[in-house]
Amino acid sequence: MSEESKLQIEPVSSALGAEVRGADLSKPLGEEKLAALREAFSEYGVLFFRDQTLSPESQIRFAEAWGSIVINRFFTPVDGFPQVAEVRKEPHQSFNVGGGWHTDHSYDVEPALGSVLCAKNVPEMGGDTLFAGMSAAYDALSDGLKETLSGLNALHSSRHVFGDLADLPADMRDRFGNPEKATQDTVHPVVIAHPLSGRKTLYVNPGFTRHFEGWTMDESRPLLDYLYKHASNEAFTYRFRWEPGAVAFWDNRATWHYAVNDYPGQLRLMHRITLDGEAVSA
Ligand code: OGA
Ligand code: MN
Repeated sequence: MSEESKLQIEPVSSALGAEVRGADLSKPLGEEKLAALREAFSEYGVLFFRDQTLSPESQIRFAEAWGSIVINRFFTPVDGFPQVAEVRKEPHQSFNVGGGWHTDHSYDVEPALGSVLCAKNVPEMGGDTLFAGMSAAYDALSDGLKETLSGLNALHSSRHVFGDLADLPADMRDRFGNPEKATQDTVHPVVIAHPLSGRKTLYVNPGFTRHFEGWTMDESRPLLDYLYKHASNEAFTYRFRWEPGAVAFWDNRATWHYAVNDYPGQLRLMHRITLDGEAVSA
C-alpha cells in the first residue's frame, strides 16, 4: 500500500479518542485499513472521521464491517432503513436525546459493541458531544476502591428511561416509541475486562445503572455518585465539535458520551447505527 493511502491516526486526548484521516467510509475500506481501525478502536475507544459523505446504505456497509446491527427498539428509524436511527432535535424542541452521561444499551444482556453516529444537520454553534474514557477513569481510582469494586455487580435497566414509567418531557415522547418494550434489566460486573483491549474498565453509567446487586438504591447512590463524579472529571473526557459529514464511532464498553444541549431554536439531526456486542465479564 502506498504511503498516501495509509491511514493517519492521531490521538486527541490522553484518556480516549483519535481522529482518523485517509479513510473514505463511503467505500469498502479493504482489510489493511480495517485492521488498523480495529486496533485503533480498541486502543482509543472512540474514532472520529471528518468530511465523509455517508448515505444510509454506506453507513450500513461501514457498520457491518464490524458486526451485525442492532435494530433499536425506541428510536424512530430513517425512512426505509430500520437499521439507522434518527437522533433528531427540532428547533421547537427543548430536550435532546442523550443529554446526560450514559453509554448506549448497557441494559442489554449482551450490551452493544458501539455506535456509528453521522452528522447530517448540525447547529452553527453548539451541539458538541462529550466523551469520557472508562479505562483511564478506572486506572485513576485508589487500590482500596478498586478492591471494593472488584467484587461488585450492578443492575442496569431501560425501564426508567424508555418505559411507560419514564419521566420524559412531553417533547421527548414523540421521539421514542415502543415504551412497552422497555423491559430490559440486567446485571453486569462494575469493572469489566474490556472485550477488545483486555483493560480493566469501569462499567456503570448515570443513564442506565440503577444500583449495586444486593444493595438498595439508597445504599448505592453515594458510591455511584462518587464514581460518576470521578469518571466525568475533565481529565478523562474529550469534547468533539461536529460539522456536516463528521462521523464518530465509539465503543460503548470503553466510553460514556453526553450530547450537549446548547443550541436552542436550531435543528440537529444525526444518523446512528448501533452494533451488536457480547456479554461482558470481570
Ligand atoms: C446517541 C447519543 C449523542 C449525540 O446517539 O446514542 O447519545 O451527540 N447521541 O447526538
Ligand atoms: Mn447515546
